[in-house]
Amino acid sequence: MIKKKGLYYPLEDFKKKALVKNKSIYKEAKKSPLKFWEKLAGDVFWRKKWSKVFKHDPPYFKWFLNGKLNFSENCLDRNIETAKNKVALIWEPEPVDERPRYFTYFDLYREVNRFANALKELGIKKGDKVGIYLPMIPEVVIAMLACTRIGAVHSVIFSAYSPQALKVRLQDTQEKLLITADGYYRAGSVIDLKKNADEGIKGTKVKKMVVVKRMGNSIKFNKRNNIWWHDLMSKQDDFCEPRVMDSEDPLFVLYTSGSTGKPKGVVHTCGGYTVQAKFTGKWIFDIKDDDIFWSMSDVGWITGHTYSIYSPLLNGASFVMFEGAPNWPEPDRWCSIIEKYGVTTFYTAPTAIRMFQKYGEDLVKKHDLSSLQILGSVGEPIDKESWLWYFKEVGNKKCPIVDTWWQTETGGILITSLPGVGPFKPSFAGLPFPGVKFDVLNSKGKPCSTEEKGDLVILPPFAPGLLRGVYKNPKRYKKTYWNQYGENTYFTSDIAYKDKNGLIRVVGRSDDMIKVAGHRLSTGEMEDFISKTLLVSECAVVGIPDEIKGEMPVVFVVPSKKLTEKKKEDLKKSVVEQIKKGIGPIAFPKEVYVVSDLPKTRSGKIMRRIMKKLFSGEELGDLSTLANPESVDELKKALK
Ligand code: PRX
Repeated sequence: MIKKKGLYYPLEDFKKKALVKNKSIYKEAKKSPLKFWEKLAGDVFWRKKWSKVFKHDPPYFKWFLNGKLNFSENCLDRNIETAKNKVALIWEPEPVDERPRYFTYFDLYREVNRFANALKELGIKKGDKVGIYLPMIPEVVIAMLACTRIGAVHSVIFSAYSPQALKVRLQDTQEKLLITADGYYRAGSVIDLKKNADEGIKGTKVKKMVVVKRMGNSIKFNKRNNIWWHDLMSKQDDFCEPRVMDSEDPLFVLYTSGSTGKPKGVVHTCGGYTVQAKFTGKWIFDIKDDDIFWSMSDVGWITGHTYSIYSPLLNGASFVMFEGAPNWPEPDRWCSIIEKYGVTTFYTAPTAIRMFQKYGEDLVKKHDLSSLQILGSVGEPIDKESWLWYFKEVGNKKCPIVDTWWQTETGGILITSLPGVGPFKPSFAGLPFPGVKFDVLNSKGKPCSTEEKGDLVILPPFAPGLLRGVYKNPKRYKKTYWNQYGENTYFTSDIAYKDKNGLIRVVGRSDDMIKVAGHRLSTGEMEDFISKTLLVSECAVVGIPDEIKGEMPVVFVVPSKKLTEKKKEDLKKSVVEQIKKGIGPIAFPKEVYVVSDLPKTRSGKIMRRIMKKLFSGEELGDLSTLANPESVDELKKALK
């Protein structure tokens, strides 16, 4: 890229070939965002065109009203018309000696149709919820698409979530069917997924489980309500008529952490999500016919939905799906995969970049990464040093880096500079996607001045893929997103600022959410679980900086009775165990402290802010408003 006054721009050669190379697109979109999105929607396959592009009934809104379409038809049928034998999915298993699996668009089409028929045989109908608790194997793509083919609403639950975390989610959506697998590999070990699934469905409405045989490990198989995927598929027809859906019908639910202990089911709809997923992917990753796209995110997260799977399919691209950990069995496995398949677009999280960096550039230099054209970053702020390392060592100073800001709720990327236009600035996500209006507001609700930090908000007409609700919880929808600045302003819960060029830098969250290795976790959910399962009278979890993972949770517990040193150690171990049980290994705490009191206001509010500051070394400020300032001294001692 070319560097001018601290900003980076794409090379002329890159720009010439880019799908979007002209700044004028921003002007056009700004003039009439509705006309702009309408134009993009024209490139999606609709069974019936919409009658109205946008309707706003704050805090609700709709896009492409009365339009009819089917999502899987857009991902598959449309591509087999022109690229039937093009490879869609390249699956790289974790063991290096196992053969990859390839699916052309036509292969995938047939598998999806068959599984859609299988779902029907199991009694699944339009609007029914289907739980998917699968690892990164091709069957997860087939299962998700099959749901969308018959109008069922999938809820994918991250396969590394614990049985307890699975249960909470299933109890909310009340699925009758869960699709899972016998097991999967993770960094060389075999994870017994079926066991977790069996435990997780206890106390839920799940009546049947379809089980994919991935590992052949020995599992408990209950013939009454367990069905092998392969048995079910063997008798299905190759065609299933796609169910024509309304633009505003739900497409999927995905749970994400919220400020309270309970995760919330974010609802995305058929029309708006499709248009946005297609075009954000196409333009931000400049997807061309001969590209090989690889987004490393697990399908259990929104990035896994939109960019590891759906956007590449909507754009008829070939994409890689990797089962394992990028540093397994060797730290440069990710480089080997890029080299092996000639990956052109690589999309990962800053945590992974920091980890790669730690292993040193010599490992990277052992590989030919010259196929790379675009690099992406997602999920958490990327620091300047990591950005520059990624740029120099991985992208050889030629690839634009799209630092993409978005959320489970936004469904697709809404801030990043476009690769053929720029400008790019290390640690800045960049410009809003054309047709989307952002602002940064101060506490009075007024726009912040340049470089002034404030709340990042989205203004009408928002974006077609923005969430339409929190599953069965309109109160929470209103309170979380439309309360702070009124019902016309979507509150992101992020703190950001703009520079003089209008580039946006997202600094972090303003709520008690933490980002551990790019995964969004709620400290409230952890606290809830600890308090419920252990004999503690109080507990507080805060996120503290971590060199690799960005942030990690630290737990403070106050036992309900006085403990010996030995018992305190036992309690610490139990806290770690309980967090693993309640959420999963991703929430593993960096440290657990057993203390006799937590700093509180006179009204009893635990001052987590103070605890965080103890780690960052920041000034603690005025402690006189605390009911128990002496508790801070105890914490200081514990931290030493
Ligand atoms: O705080 C922002 C951070 O991740 C949050 C959304 O998390 P989640 O719903 O799990 O979705 C992650 C993947 C899209 C945001 O509110 N975030 C995401 N991308 C960035 C980011 N922070 C800074 N820079 C980014 N590029």
